[in-house]
Amino acid sequence: MQKLIFILLFSISFLLMIYFGKETFYIEGELGTENPYDYHFVLIIEEIGNDYWRLVEKGAREEAAEHNIYLEYTGPKVLDEEEQLAIFDRMIAADVDGIIIKGINNERFDTLVQKAVNHNITVATIDADNENSGRHFYIGTDNYKAGYLAGQTMVNQTTGEQKVAVIIGTRNAQNQIERLSGFQDAIDLSERIELIRIAESNITTLGAAQATYRVLKEHPDITAFFGASALDGIGIVQGIKEMKTKEHPYIISFDILPETLDEIEKGYIEATVVQYPEEMGRRSVELMLQLQQNQTLEPFYYTETGVVDSSHIYNGELIAPIEVGELP
Ligand code: BGC
Repeated sequence: MQKLIFILLFSISFLLMIYFGKETFYIEGELGTENPYDYHFVLIIEEIGNDYWRLVEKGAREEAAEHNIYLEYTGPKVLDEEEQLAIFDRMIAADVDGIIIKGINNERFDTLVQKAVNHNITVATIDADNENSGRHFYIGTDNYKAGYLAGQTMVNQTTGEQKVAVIIGTRNAQNQIERLSGFQDAIDLSERIELIRIAESNITTLGAAQATYRVLKEHPDITAFFGASALDGIGIVQGIKEMKTKEHPYIISFDILPETLDEIEKGYIEATVVQYPEEMGRRSVELMLQLQQNQTLEPFYYTETGVVDSSHIYNGELIAPIEVGELP
C-alpha cells in the first residue's frame, strides 16, 4: 500500500514538474518542430502595456484563433523606437511568415522592410503608415482625416478667439504628424483659432499631464487643447486640474478608452475622435492571411473614424451612433 502511495505521489509530482517546467521555459516566439499552426504572424507595436495596443492585440488574437494562425504580440515595454526596430530585425531573422508593425518613418525602417521582403516575409503597417517603405499594405485610421475632424469639431464647438495647444504622442510618429496637419488645415479655415504650442506626452498620461502643466505655465492664455494620442486627453485633464485654471479650457481628445469616455461624461473633455483598434487588429490578420494565399490587396485599408461627445455616452458606454465625419 505504501509503495502504491509512493508511486502515485511520484507520478503526480513528475507530471506537475513536466507541466510547470514547460510553462516556465516556454519561450514565446519559438515554435516547436511539430508546429500545429498554418502560419506564424507577429504584431510589433509601440508599447506593450498601452491600453490602446491591448485592443489591437485582442482583435488580432481573435482573428488568428479562427484561422489556425500563431500570433505573437510584441514590442518595447515603454515607447522606444530603437527597441521596436531591433525587434523587427529579430523577427525577420526568426523567419516568421508575416509581420504587422506600427510604421516608423525613417531609413532604418525602410531597410528592414526590404530585408523582410527579400526573405519572403510579408509586411503590413498598422495604425501609422510608411507608404514608401515597400510594405504590402496599411491598415488603420486615415490619420489626416481624423486630425481634420478634430479641428473641424473644435471650430464647430467653440465661439470667440481661441489659443490652442496640441499635446501629441511623439513628434516623429507619422500618425501624429498627419493628425496635426489635418487639424491645422481645419482650424486654418477659421480666423479665430490659433495654434500656439505643440508639446509631447511620450504617449503616457503622466507625460501629457506634465506637458499640459508646462504649457499652461508658459501660456496662461491658452483656451483650448487637442490631445492627439490615446492617453493625452486624460493627461490634459490632470494637468489642468493641477494648474487650477480659473476657466475650463475646451478639450478635444483622441480615442475612446474608458477613462476618456468618463471625462467626457463628467464634462472635462468636450469631444474625442474615434478609432477602432480592435477592428484594425482583426483586419490586419485577415488581410495578412489573404496575402499569404496570394490574393491581390490594395495598398490602403482605412478603418472608420468619427467624433464622440457627451450625447453619445451614457454610464461609460457608447449609446448613440457616431457621425462618421466627411472632409469638405
Ligand atoms: C495612436 C497610437 C499610439 C497610442 C498611444 C493612439 O491614438 O493611434 O499610435 O500608440 O494612441 O496611446
